[in-house]
Amino acid sequence: MRTVITGTGIGIPKNVVVNDALAKIMDTSDEWIRTRSGVEQRRYADPGEGSAELGMKAAEAALAAAKRTTADIDAVIFATMTPNYYFPGNGPVLQAKMGFGEIPTFDIRQQCSGFVYGLDLADSLIRSGKYNRILLIGADVHTPLMPWQLGWDIVLGLEEREITPEEYAVNTKYRDRTVLFGDGAGAVVIERSENGTRGFEAFKLFTNGSNIEALYMKGGTAQRPWVRSEQVDEGYLIPVMEGRQVFKEAVSRMPESVRAVCKEAGVEVEQIDVLLIHQANLRIVEGVAKQLGMPPEKVPHNIEKYANTTAGTLPILFHECLADGRIKPGMLVCFTALGSGLHWGAALYRV
Ligand code: ACO
Repeated sequence: MRTVITGTGIGIPKNVVVNDALAKIMDTSDEWIRTRSGVEQRRYADPGEGSAELGMKAAEAALAAAKRTTADIDAVIFATMTPNYYFPGNGPVLQAKMGFGEIPTFDIRQQCSGFVYGLDLADSLIRSGKYNRILLIGADVHTPLMPWQLGWDIVLGLEEREITPEEYAVNTKYRDRTVLFGDGAGAVVIERSENGTRGFEAFKLFTNGSNIEALYMKGGTAQRPWVRSEQVDEGYLIPVMEGRQVFKEAVSRMPESVRAVCKEAGVEVEQIDVLLIHQANLRIVEGVAKQLGMPPEKVPHNIEKYANTTAGTLPILFHECLADGRIKPGMLVCFTALGSGLHWGAALYRV
């Protein structure tokens, strides 16, 4: 018995924001963003459009592609670090709005590794015999975490005004992070299959919480009270990121996990047909590929279009590669990601 992906879908917001639009509200440039990260544009969700709404769009498309309805799904796993509410998670939001029965929903938060963790969880739950079909969603909406109330109107082209020097200074303070992120969602339907040739072959997941401060968001229940008005000015509501440290971890940990998952499955790294790497930075994608000796044609990327959509990057990339034929039936695909936690890992899948 194996588990197979029978349908994929994506949920992408309509607002396209090119690098030059960000350069209007902070000290940055299209050239800096392209050369340091590979990002050319990103999509921003509208107010009222959270990760649950984008996730629902992706989920509806994945169900249609799998020729399934909500009645066929036994459980939902929703991976996001940016849920609509502090609690509950997005699972019940999606469950009610999409009209699922009272099936269990799991909310997981492994940030950029959320989708890979979700794949392992779905595979394990199906293999255990508990469920036959699971809907897995990876979605993030970063827009509200950014200080765009200071220039949001300019970024979206809603107003022809000059940014004030105060607004420009605040936006520039966070420029190393804010230019890297976009909003988006992907979803897959995963099912039990008795056809032994296709399906997931192995998973390897890792966590190391010894350096959480390298990539995290302050605040939470250790604070008394956990929300104070000054926190907004102190940047508590904006992610903290030691970019160079995370970069170094990414280019060493992801290749390690790809090698480990290949060893587990008894295959050579060279046998991987397509390597899907979490889209955080094009230089990271190229660095991981280089470490593994993978030629560029086996390592697709779409960071230029969407920037880093956290739990959304891998299911969006997988969906696009299936749609345009870069991934074909029979191919061996490896998913790998690293993100805040740090959590990282890899999954091997025969399409
Ligand atoms: N525009 C212009 N200049 C900038 C910008 C910007 N947007 N951001 C930073 N700079 C400046 C810096 O201030 C610095 O200037 P200085 O030399 O005068 O001090 C200079 O550019 C170089 O900065 P570095 O930090 O050395 O740039 P680097 O090449 O390391 O790139 C980056 C920074 C893009 C953040 C990179 O380190 C990176 O991608 N790191 C990993 C990010 C990541 O993977 N995050 C994980 C996912 S997030 C998650 O899990 C939630």
